[in-house]
Amino acid sequence: MEKTDKKILEEIIRVDHAGERGAIKIYEGQLLALNTIKNDNQLKHIIEEMKEHEKEHLQYFEKEIQKRKMKPTYFLPLWDLIGVSLGFGTAMLGKKAAMLCTASVEEVIENHYQNQLKKIGDDEKDLKTNIEKFKEDEVNHKNIAYKAGASKTGFYSIMDKMIKTGSKIAINISEKI
Ligand SMILES: [Fe+2]
Ligand SMILES: [Fe+2]
Repeated sequence: MEKTDKKILEEIIRVDHAGERGAIKIYEGQLLALNTIKNDNQLKHIIEEMKEHEKEHLQYFEKEIQKRKMKPTYFLPLWDLIGVSLGFGTAMLGKKAAMLCTASVEEVIENHYQNQLKKIGDDEKDLKTNIEKFKEDEVNHKNIAYKAGASKTGFYSIMDKMIKTGSKIAINISEKI
């Protein structure tokens, strides 16, 4: 594919910017619970490390937004609130729920990045390389989450579906406005 559709390109950058920021907010919410009410240093360490990767991802999209003189999604304040709440809530439920949250989100994002890669042409090599790299990081996060105890049985399967549906709605909105 030669050229990336301009409208699709803007959608890609806007939604990825929102998503990476959302990921940081979820981890901030989880760390808030882990720094106050819940005590799990091992989990805290895992989350802090993944958050560092998300910061790197966000920085890249922030730079792209500025460079291309784009506007981020109008929904950032709402996503921030939902992200922190989701993070806090899942961490309060315990390690299994906190890690399921990561696994569920990353499964959506892995697909999301994969779909985007198909739409990016040779005129946007840098963007493509970065999204490929970020996708690998997210797959890693997913694997870390399962290793740390993410579970999809019983009640957790409902949580998984809710988080996935919510993430997809946020993606659809953030692509457009
Ligand atoms: Fe990320
Ligand atoms: Fe991630």
